[in-house]
Amino acid sequence: MSAARPFFLTFEGVDGSGKSTQARLLAERLGKSAILTREPGGSPGAEEIRALLVEGDPARWSPETEILLFTAARRDHLEKTILPALKAGKTVISDRFADSTRVYQGVARADLRGVVDQLHALMIGREPDLTFIVDMDPELALGRGLARKSGEDRFEEFGLDFQHALRAGFLDLARKNPDRCILIDGNRPIETVAKDIANRLAGFR
Ligand code: ADP
Ligand code: TYD
Repeated sequence: MSAARPFFLTFEGVDGSGKSTQARLLAERLGKSAILTREPGGSPGAEEIRALLVEGDPARWSPETEILLFTAARRDHLEKTILPALKAGKTVISDRFADSTRVYQGVARADLRGVVDQLHALMIGREPDLTFIVDMDPELALGRGLARKSGEDRFEEFGLDFQHALRAGFLDLARKNPDRCILIDGNRPIETVAKDIANRLAGFR
């Protein structure tokens, strides 16, 4: 597979769904034509903001403060990593992007989708060309995620109801954006999911 044109691709889904694994496998498949990045993070400044967001007490930030922090991190990521790579002709693969804020802060943590959309329009204003939403039962996904004990588990600690709200939010997002969102069944062996993603990408481009 080769990069026909600069292309911005994102992976989304509940915690532990296997997004990071799939983003990495796809980046390996695409080789030098692609860069792999992630949110929150993906640039030195945004990685510093990441630590504030993913570590510590779940009650540490209000949903409103979270929206501001995630958007600040995203703006830096966009300016310093995503746009320069696209300009250089690379395919950009990001493990999470704005859809995570729409669903985590806009639906699951609070009913703030309008605020998320306004801030996105003001400060980001960019959508991916294609988004893979890796879908699976949150209970199974959470079991995988918590097994890692990475110290970056602040969002996993909101519990199972939160993860169910996330799943519903991502499914709704996929339904409403069929032009750029592809739903992927994440509850299959890693290689099966990877082949499905590669085939869907080939069909899309
Ligand atoms: P996410 O980025 O969605 O949180 P990861 O890719 O980090 O998920 O995967 C979480 C854990 O589950 C890792 O230990 C990973 O090796 C494992 N994993 C990923 N995909 C699968 C799969 N399809 N089947 C079983 N385990 C998986
Ligand atoms: P990440 O480390 O990618 O978690 P995981 O590997 O479990 O998917 O992301 C950290 C957490 O930040 C994750 O639980 C999702 C959350 N998050 C938001 O709440 N809003 C956002 O805008 C982003 C990008 C992530």
